Amino acid sequence: MKIGIDKASFYTADMYVDMAKLALERNEDPNKYLIGIGQHKMAVTPPSQDIVTLAANAAAQIITPEDREQIDMVIFGTESGIDNSKSAAIYVASLLGLKNNLRTFEIKQACYGATAALQMAKGHIALHPDKKVLVLGADIARYGLRTKGEPTQGGGAVALLISQNPHILALEDETAYYTEDVMDFWRPIGRNEAVVDGKFSANVYLDFLQETYQQYTAKTGYQLSDYAAFVFHLPFTKMGIKAMRQVILKDYDPESQLYQTYMERYEAARKYNMLVGNIYTGSMYLSLISLLENATDLRAGQRIGFYSYGSGAIGEFFAGILQPGYQNYLQTDLHQALLAHRQEVSVAEYEEYFDAMVLSDEERTIDITKDAAQFVLSGVHEQKRQYLKRTEK
Ligand code: HMG
Repeated sequence: MKIGIDKASFYTADMYVDMAKLALERNEDPNKYLIGIGQHKMAVTPPSQDIVTLAANAAAQIITPEDREQIDMVIFGTESGIDNSKSAAIYVASLLGLKNNLRTFEIKQACYGATAALQMAKGHIALHPDKKVLVLGADIARYGLRTKGEPTQGGGAVALLISQNPHILALEDETAYYTEDVMDFWRPIGRNEAVVDGKFSANVYLDFLQETYQQYTAKTGYQLSDYAAFVFHLPFTKMGIKAMRQVILKDYDPESQLYQTYMERYEAARKYNMLVGNIYTGSMYLSLISLLENATDLRAGQRIGFYSYGSGAIGEFFAGILQPGYQNYLQTDLHQALLAHRQEVSVAEYEEYFDAMVLSDEERTIDITKDAAQFVLSGVHEQKRQYLKRTEK
């Protein structure tokens, strides 16, 4: 039985800060952010959005009444949870009007959460082929103003519908994973910003890619030519260039046509991520959507390689096959319009939004008039987040 991604969408708030302008404010050469880190715009999230609303806004773009009948599990991968007990999956299921015969839970392992959810969803569909699983990955990446990590922040959500006979991509069964106890990035209880050993984290990411890609190759016997393209967890898009050059293509001539073809497809895979930033657990799936919606030379039957990484740390390498007519199930126009119609904010405004994020249970009312999203956070009352669904446009 084929199991995999039937539909996929992402959502990010309608504001961004320009990375060249941010660099100048931080006394850095703009090319450090634009080329050295590989980010052009960074999503700015207003207080009227949190991981719940971001995920609900992403999922609402793909869920049909028929899907509502078949979804019996919602798994929410996040590392910026809004509650230490109740899962964000319940809030989203309620906002989306899903039926009550549901398994709902949140899953955490840094940026790997959505991949853990995807693999779990695959197992569930294998046992219950007539059901569908909604996998959500949403995060708001925070390192702090004027930190080294600042240009690698971002925010947004990805929603994946997992089913049998998927329309977009069928997951292959073989997979290779590797875990080691490493302190490269973490967020102790009570802290709102991550603690990170930046350069070390990039090295661990690459070491785990080397390890899992090697393991996967040994298990499957696949060679480079068996893949059409690769997608990676992208904390910033230069990271994927390092992954391609230092691991995937390390034995190939950079001048060769083959090398260029893979690097061109990587350009398509990083396009959206360059404009959004790190959305942690959704990042690799944002890159998959970017690849499928921007590469012009992919076709059904081709294999995509995936490298998922979550600090702490775990890496997993797996693959999937593009399905016939997959192009008809993408949300290309919607996603491109979402990115094109965002409003630029100044660095000073971005800083205000950064400080205004709702990080406590303090009583408040949030101004939602500037946020046109379908799902918004309107305040906190009696320690309960108040979510609002606007009537569908
Ligand atoms: P930094 O020290 O500010 O930057 O930190 P740098 O000095 O290393 O410069 C960055 C790159 O820009 C370098 O290129 C420079 O040469 C280049 P590289 O050597 O890496 O190829 N550069 C320039 N290029 C062109 N023109 C110029 C110029 N100047 C410099 N004028 C760092 C950068 C990414 C470390 C920092 O932003 C950081 O700590 N970020 C957060 C951590 C992170 O993203 N780690 C990635 C791997 S871990 C991961 O992916 C998991 C994660 O998503 C969390 C999770 O799992 O939950 C983070």
